[in-house]
Amino acid sequence: MAKKIVLSGMRPTGRLHLGNFAGALSNWIKLQNQTENQCLFMVADWHALTTDYEEPSKIESNIQEMVLDWLAVGLDPKKTIFFRQSWVKEHSELALILSMITPLSWLERNPTYKEQIVELEGKALSTHGFLGYPVLQAADILLYGATHVPVGEDQLPHLELTREIARRFNYLYKKSIFVEPQALLSHVPKVSGIDGRKMSKSYGNTIDISEEEELLKKKIKTMFTDPLKIKANDPGHPRACAENPKGCSVFSFHEIYEESKEKNHLREKSCKEGSLGCVQCKNELFQEMNQALKPLREKRDFFSKEKGEVNQILKSGSQLASSLAGKTLTSVREAIQYHEAL
Ligand code: TRP
Repeated sequence: MAKKIVLSGMRPTGRLHLGNFAGALSNWIKLQNQTENQCLFMVADWHALTTDYEEPSKIESNIQEMVLDWLAVGLDPKKTIFFRQSWVKEHSELALILSMITPLSWLERNPTYKEQIVELEGKALSTHGFLGYPVLQAADILLYGATHVPVGEDQLPHLELTREIARRFNYLYKKSIFVEPQALLSHVPKVSGIDGRKMSKSYGNTIDISEEEELLKKKIKTMFTDPLKIKANDPGHPRACAENPKGCSVFSFHEIYEESKEKNHLREKSCKEGSLGCVQCKNELFQEMNQALKPLREKRDFFSKEKGEVNQILKSGSQLASSLAGKTLTSVREAIQYHEAL
């Protein structure tokens, strides 16, 4: 049976945090380990340039840091094709061709585009490249005939555009060259940051996947807890409720990292009764998280000592990706009656 082609991408933003892990990476690992899938995971560095073109100097080191985290969590280049978008030039040619057939109105009405323009207010984003972001993303997906695209909810409009562009191309040139991909939305548990808000780099409230031991300890110490629990023996409200609408960050992490449901149940009870103080509860959390993150840290260290390893992985992945993408592009050129160079 033909394998499902699963493709996803991430803009290189540097080290990844536990929110990224819960939101995307844990799902990627699951998909990679299902033998019916051929996965391709892409470093979307041209997409990074759409918003960071004024200051591109960080992109290169962000790529290294991000891919080290991919390796640390167990994504495996032996099972999966990792590649770098800008090293597979076919993406630029297909994006250009698709831009010819994509009506401007489709791009202008895209809700993610409208939201981002507001959110990234400080940046000058009235550019062709930024408006065309989803066209490049469509090229990323269609070049490989991806059937499934694991993404977060914010990416659904981009995926719908990809489907519309594929349909329009097939219709215009009367060939069914492109496959319409499906989104794979996974259930994403809410990961709160150390201040109780959603974990996000822009809030400065993250814990990194490879957070170093001492920093992990420090961050857990400053974690948001029930503001009404001031003394250790005050009764606390570990979950969001009328008294503590934000809930307690420490408890929400116990729910992820404590393996025994039973223990968490007891923990919740003791907190509510005032027999468990926040300091002890945080110490316990440190033990759990440190144990979970330790092997990731070690794996990351191992790969980061192998100089040039990340680039080597990306290079061979990109060559493979390029040979797959090249086949699609040949059919595309034929469909629009362009011939390969003589
Ligand atoms: N736009 C995606 C994001 O910001 C990244 C991305 C680029 C992507 N190309 C892709 C995701 C192709 C899935 C498929 O998260």
